Amino acid sequence: MTTTIHTINELQTQIKTWKNSGFVIGLVPTMGALHKGHASLIKKSAETCDKTVVSVFVNPTQFGANEDFSKYPRTLDKDIQLAEENNADIVFAPSSEEMYGKNYNKDFMTLVCPPYDLVNQLCGKTRIGHFDGVATVVTKLFNIAQPDYAFFGQKDAQQLYIIKKMVKDLNFPIKIIPCPIIRESNGLAISSRNQYLTQEEKQKALSISKALFTIQKYYEQGITDAQTLFDTAITVLDKDLELEYLNFIDYETFKKTDIIKQHTLVAICAKVGSTRLIDNIIT
Ligand code: PAJ
Repeated sequence: MTTTIHTINELQTQIKTWKNSGFVIGLVPTMGALHKGHASLIKKSAETCDKTVVSVFVNPTQFGANEDFSKYPRTLDKDIQLAEENNADIVFAPSSEEMYGKNYNKDFMTLVCPPYDLVNQLCGKTRIGHFDGVATVVTKLFNIAQPDYAFFGQKDAQQLYIIKKMVKDLNFPIKIIPCPIIRESNGLAISSRNQYLTQEEKQKALSISKALFTIQKYYEQGITDAQTLFDTAITVLDKDLELEYLNFIDYETFKKTDIIKQHTLVAICAKVGSTRLIDNIIT
């Protein structure tokens, strides 16, 4: 049975009881519109931990002024059902006021700002302030739910890297568990934002994962030059997509690399119509 909680106080009371009983607690932070990708994280938490909290909060501080905060899908009833099916114990769905107070102002609140070198590339380059919002809300969720484990998807590779770094740098006593990308059978990475796509756009969006799989194939055949792999991938991408980036990143240092080797993150972001989609592979 999954219980839905809307206030921090109520959640903390429950967490205290669990801690007193010695239960291991797992947290799965989400923005809702839950799908199979989120389900895999919840399932993993339920398998790993005694108790699982799924947070559902469309976090306003990680959206830019021209982004999709107001139209982001909000489907709490369905989310609770999916969480329950995957053995979550609590869905924590606070309001913005509950998390940030009335009329919060990002210029007058304490923010957690991840390192510039990690933020000033990939998504952070165009989504100014995005990762400050992510790191801040995740810190708040960690402090509220005090989990032993927290589960994040490889789908948002930069986010995952930043959260791991934050946990290490700020000494959170939490183990971050990375979870693999869940895809449709045709290869499209599942995302809450796929709901924005028309059938025709979905078809075009398929070329994003195709481009990544092409890179993987050529890499496995021995091509390690990033520029050559980039040029090949570009030919696979649907011509109507607007490429924001296709970058090759050393996944140990998170710096750009010209030569691909094992553990290189190949990350892509492209707009299909007005929908911005991200995907990646690690060689
Ligand atoms: P959201 O986009 O809802 O994603 C919640 C978690 O689900 C993230 O860790 C994300 O990487 C993971 N996820 C999404 N699609 C996935 C897929 N296809 N396969 C595997 N995992 C997938 O990421 C956020 O929310 C927010 O930034 C958040 C961390 C909750 C902070 O507000």
